[in-house]
Amino acid sequence: MRENFTETLDFLRSKFPTLPKAGIILGSGLGNFSSRIEGPIEIPYSEIPNFPQSTVEGHSGTLIFGTLKNIPVVAMSGRFHFYEGYEMDKVTFPVRVLKLLGIDFLVISNAAGGLNPSFQVGDLMIIQDHIDLFPYNPLRGKNEDDFGVRFPDMSEPFDMALRKKALEIAVKNNILAHSGVYAGVQGPKLETRAEMRYLRIIGADAVGMSTVPEVIVARHMDLPVIAVSAITNLCIPQEKQHFSHDGVVDAAQKAEASLSKLVEELLQS
Ligand code: 6GU
Repeated sequence: MRENFTETLDFLRSKFPTLPKAGIILGSGLGNFSSRIEGPIEIPYSEIPNFPQSTVEGHSGTLIFGTLKNIPVVAMSGRFHFYEGYEMDKVTFPVRVLKLLGIDFLVISNAAGGLNPSFQVGDLMIIQDHIDLFPYNPLRGKNEDDFGVRFPDMSEPFDMALRKKALEIAVKNNILAHSGVYAGVQGPKLETRAEMRYLRIIGADAVGMSTVPEVIVARHMDLPVIAVSAITNLCIPQEKQHFSHDGVVDAAQKAEASLSKLVEELLQS
């Protein structure tokens, strides 16, 4: 396990000598964000030793080093989903790599279905807390003591100071950003109407198929996290469902400008 990381880190450090301060994971349809990164050095996942390969449409699968507002960052354009068939250690491998590269905090984005009836397509939701409904935990098995403790605290997985700042930035910039609970499910299927009602009852405001494993591994390593969902479709029992992956990517692309503004200002502050 450890050798894998050394090889990957040596390779990445040889490509980009400046240590990134922040890591950013770009969700479905949010890849355009990476065009804002200055002086980009883009490395396809296929060239990175031990990196899994991305297969989903709308995920290009590159690691991008560069600066945003003069701050060195590393962005993942394309992530690994459990529903693609990757084991949890593969899904979360890049998060550990980013932490070991020296990032101070991780910004996660995703496309999610809105369960809260006050949400509209295109809104942002700053994740206040999550509900883990994945069938496996990425920390299952022998604990990697070098990374963190056996029983990591999860009472506040999303950094309060970062969240507060993000909400302030949203208000200042006229960006509609809710604060809410994200339910992480394995996918790839969408929810039945009974499941939509269930998710709402247990306290979720949005549902998606990513993020939770990444957050668990990040918090295990004591890496501060902020996560934002772009609400790309509504997941409400009374409404006619019209989910399409293209629709999700479209809606995410529309939310991308607000998300970018939010992240840039967050970095600056
Ligand atoms: Cl409606 N459900 C799930 N599980 N994931 C999603 C979604 C819905 N919309 C975007 N991602």
